[in-house]
Amino acid sequence: MAAIGVDLGGTKIRAGRVATDGAITGELEVATDDSSPDAILDQIVALVRALSAGEPIPVGVGLPGTVDQRSDTLVQAANLPLWNVPVRARLAAALGVPVSIDNDANCAALGEHRFGAARGTAYSVMLTLGTGVGGGVVVDGALYRGARGTGAELGHTVVALNGRPCQGSCRGRGHLEAYCSGTALTLAASAHGLGDAHAVVALAAEGNVVALRLLADVADALGAGLVTFANAFNPEIFVIGGGLGEAASSFLLDAVTVILRAESLAPNGDVPVVAARLGNDAGMVGAAALVLP
Ligand code: BGC
Repeated sequence: MAAIGVDLGGTKIRAGRVATDGAITGELEVATDDSSPDAILDQIVALVRALSAGEPIPVGVGLPGTVDQRSDTLVQAANLPLWNVPVRARLAAALGVPVSIDNDANCAALGEHRFGAARGTAYSVMLTLGTGVGGGVVVDGALYRGARGTGAELGHTVVALNGRPCQGSCRGRGHLEAYCSGTALTLAASAHGLGDAHAVVALAAEGNVVALRLLADVADALGAGLVTFANAFNPEIFVIGGGLGEAASSFLLDAVTVILRAESLAPNGDVPVVAARLGNDAGMVGAAALVLP
């Protein structure tokens, strides 16, 4: 049996056909058309139809915002113009197959729990650093979602009181996302004439001092977040993924580990911080895992 996993991101939509062992057997990607909710849903439907080729394959979709599991509705996506969209019902009606939806970082955490770096653990915390910053928490072997399903929004943890404004439609300040997302790094990069987040990682690899400092700033904020999550959840492992998390792991993981050890209450800081084993596929594979047996 196979499932289709869809990872809706702020810049691209990725869809994959995923086998029960987590292997990706087909994959498609398009740039996100964020002109309207309908445009996005149409893109998802087209990708799923192309991958399923007429077979009635169940679909799991990871969405970059708060997903109310009681109404199967995407309530707010900070970085896309999506508010109160009944995504599950709309996709199920268009596709005629079972559809499940969840937050994209919850999906990534599930993917890493079942098939990746957190396999074999019962308590893990995943952070995805991409257009936004997502969080997923596995407690006693199952995703923790909270009362309505909209919990574990770890990217909107305050790490600097009255700090930088958060992104998109989020009205908060000083959130982790404003310091550790690819979007935030691109903003910082352009302020220093370094291009974008990709360029910063490439320049840091060549030893560029400003690029290294910008990544150290990302690590400082991420470390602060991990200390809070270590003390709150006492996980067995932290998994760092997303496009920026994957690209910059060699600059982030050791640095955040130092902060984690120094700032957490004993024994909570004694947790490995590792890169997502599924890389930036974690969200797509985990979305499929929502509907895999
Ligand atoms: C959203 C999260 C999402 C993350 C990554 C954040 O801005 O609030 O729900 O998981 O971006 O897409």
